[in-house]
Amino acid sequence: MGKEKLKRYREVAEFDNVIDFSGFRPGSEADQTGRWSEKVFGNSNPITLELACGKGDYAIALAARYPDRNFIGIDIKGERLWVGAQKAIDQGLSNVCFIRGRIDHITQFFGKDEIAEIWITFPDPFLKNRRRNRRLTHPDFLNKYREVLREDGFINLKTDSPELYEFTNQVIETNQFEVRSRIDDVYALEETPELLQIKTYYERKHLEIGRTIRFVSFCIGQKLAK
Ligand SMILES: C[S@@+](CC[C@H](N)C(=O)[O-])C[C@H]1O[C@@H](n2cnc3c(N)ncnc32)[C@H](O)[C@@H]1O
Repeated sequence: MGKEKLKRYREVAEFDNVIDFSGFRPGSEADQTGRWSEKVFGNSNPITLELACGKGDYAIALAARYPDRNFIGIDIKGERLWVGAQKAIDQGLSNVCFIRGRIDHITQFFGKDEIAEIWITFPDPFLKNRRRNRRLTHPDFLNKYREVLREDGFINLKTDSPELYEFTNQVIETNQFEVRSRIDDVYALEETPELLQIKTYYERKHLEIGRTIRFVSFCIGQKLAK
């Protein structure tokens, strides 16, 4: 591991706006469940998650835009979170923080209805069929999100992967989830919605090599995912 990466690993553990659940194992008790408003943000504003946030570009940009809402980015990679956490400090944003941990354990981090909305930004598509249950829109993950997401909460997926986009749309169709918006080519629109113009680190790399960016926003409500 490079020197800079190592330095960031060490430093990120000291940031007040990063909570480290990387050592969390199922069965052990997370003390944060149901207490984000009270313990972390000091208010009861709605909480939006950015899953697979990397450097937290969406969490940061949304937090700056919506001071009356709270944002939490989750990723397992500490050196990437370092970038977002440092940016939040530099920008004086107190309504955003980060979890270093596995999204697989999300039900241990949050209580029922604690989350108002979810963004999933450029997650790894896990193209091999035998790894499909690691896709962040696989029904196994959606069932976990359902345990923490409000019934009227939307999940927003932004991706460059046609395979993941198709897979997600199939899951939506199979389960008859409500779709709020589906855009096959975000930047081909005459007017790209303001929130979709926020660009993540990976998105910028994908755009440089001419990849198409896709978006779907859907509500999983109470229906069972299959
Ligand atoms: C391709 S990167 C995208 C990062 C960022 N959203 C962006 O667009 O720049 C995917 C990220 O997902 C994270 N990731 C994948 N599976 C995860 C999981 N199960 N739990 C936590 N993080 C995960 C990886 O560590 C990586 O940072």
